[in-house]
Amino acid sequence: MLDRASNQPELPPEIARRRTFAIISHPDAGKTTLTEKFLLYGGAIQMAGQVRAKGEARRTRSDFMQMEKDRGISVSASAMSFDFSNQGTDYRFNLVDTPGHSDFSEDTYRTLTAVDAAVMVIDGAKGVESQTQKLFEVCRLRDLPILTFCNKMDRESRDTFEIIDEIQENLAIDVTPASWPIGMGRDFLGCYDLIHDRLELMDRADRNKVAESIQINGLDDPELAKHVPEAELNKLLEEVEMARELLPTFDQQALLDGTMTPIWFGSAINSFGVQELMQGIAEYGPQPQPQKAEPRQISPEESKVCGFVFKVQANMDPKHRDRVAFVRLASGHFKRGMKLTHVRSKKPMAISNPVLFLASDRELAEEAWAGDIMGIPNHGQLRIGDTLTEGEMVRATGIPSFAPELLQTCRAGDPLKAKHLEKALMQFAEEGAAKVFKPAFGSGFIVGVVGALQFEVLASRIELEYGLPVRFEASQFTSARWVTGPKDKVDAFIAANKQHISHDNDGDVVFLTRLQWDIDRVARDYPDVTLSATKEMM
Ligand code: G4P
Repeated sequence: MLDRASNQPELPPEIARRRTFAIISHPDAGKTTLTEKFLLYGGAIQMAGQVRAKGEARRTRSDFMQMEKDRGISVSASAMSFDFSNQGTDYRFNLVDTPGHSDFSEDTYRTLTAVDAAVMVIDGAKGVESQTQKLFEVCRLRDLPILTFCNKMDRESRDTFEIIDEIQENLAIDVTPASWPIGMGRDFLGCYDLIHDRLELMDRADRNKVAESIQINGLDDPELAKHVPEAELNKLLEEVEMARELLPTFDQQALLDGTMTPIWFGSAINSFGVQELMQGIAEYGPQPQPQKAEPRQISPEESKVCGFVFKVQANMDPKHRDRVAFVRLASGHFKRGMKLTHVRSKKPMAISNPVLFLASDRELAEEAWAGDIMGIPNHGQLRIGDTLTEGEMVRATGIPSFAPELLQTCRAGDPLKAKHLEKALMQFAEEGAAKVFKPAFGSGFIVGVVGALQFEVLASRIELEYGLPVRFEASQFTSARWVTGPKDKVDAFIAANKQHISHDNDGDVVFLTRLQWDIDRVARDYPDVTLSATKEMM
């Protein structure tokens, strides 16, 4: 094992053993299958195949939408915790799920603010696909460490060098092989583990069996020839020699800085390569990292509890109008029943029934440490971006809200139900599922989302949860920008542009328009007024 990187402080062991990460991938690359195998090795499930079943069960409980079932997509992200034992150390993995469908929402972005690392899964035959690229770029904004898993090596895949080159070129990141595949497709035998000098052989007969691992004394060990046929062995030796000459060697610091990604090759469905990837996460992946906050940064080793809300999911149980705020603990040791300060309202909040998302089921959390994800049921007090502390007035920063890319007008099927509609829309706005703008002129609401699918999601949820059929119609506007600046300048701007002005659910002023030209005009005519496409959640 390599030494811990120099910039990681000594953390209390309970915190140091935590690894909080998300999986980023293009639909169909194998994220679900890999998650399932993670849980299998984490001892959280007894047999592979349960995640899907569980997924169904979960859907009836939380993802309750018919559309999700019909299309087999998961619209809402969730979190799971499980243990993984490696070389005598027990690690606690917190896997935060990102929706896999291409039409993802801001949740996906914000999920990535709650993790310390990402596992990028690519399909060995397809390489880097559009969604992977998009998500990778979000990770890059935060210099998030990325570990790569090249899946489906049991099928015809691209040449190993070609895959590595493509990642290096498309994503502009150094790639270092952690393992090297031996054969591919029908002739895929397994991998040579370049970090531990081990030979891992895939067992095609038993998909759920952990691969046989043979310790090898370097590539000239005669032991290799006993397990790998001559032609494959020669190819392996030649390729590894080339790889060692041409590709950078593994450097943990570069991984932690987000400038290098180690790549493992495997086949999730055959449980192959998964354990090595998990070992990689455990051994080289980042421990819980400091959280940016105002007026000061929060470090995980601080004894006082601080956490921030990165996601709110309403009505996980349609029978109860409850909401669960997903909180990432940034520091301290949380114990059930603790009173925390809700920084935005400066009010105390007793956290009596927090939920830890253990892979098996939702479970009441007795305690949690920095790095953990906790669910806090509440009646709407907790919003995205909120900070909870033991009294200090700090505010986590860097949790973005994006200007929606699509705008539509929302009307209630029954015009007498406008008040109900307002209530429903406000709830979704607070949950972060959509932006809701109330125009200064005219009636109705303008709803903004990042992906078109979200309109359908909203319409179906409003009908299901509020019994209110709604229509989404084309809006005259296509862009929304938050307006900031000195009060007198903003007031003058509002007075002169009334037909473009609306307010979001926080009461902030928003400029709506159809033309980029309008936005440029404002920049020219109102130099003291700023129009921005992002707003920090507070
Ligand atoms: P996703 O969550 O990223 O969308 O992918 P998912 O795990 O659902 O996998 C997509 C498809 O790829 C599934 O097939 C899955 O069985 C298959 N798959 C995953 N890992 C491997 C692998 O290592 N090798 C091969 N050959 N296939 C793999 P499906 O036919 O769409 O679904 P299913 O009928 O198998 O459930």
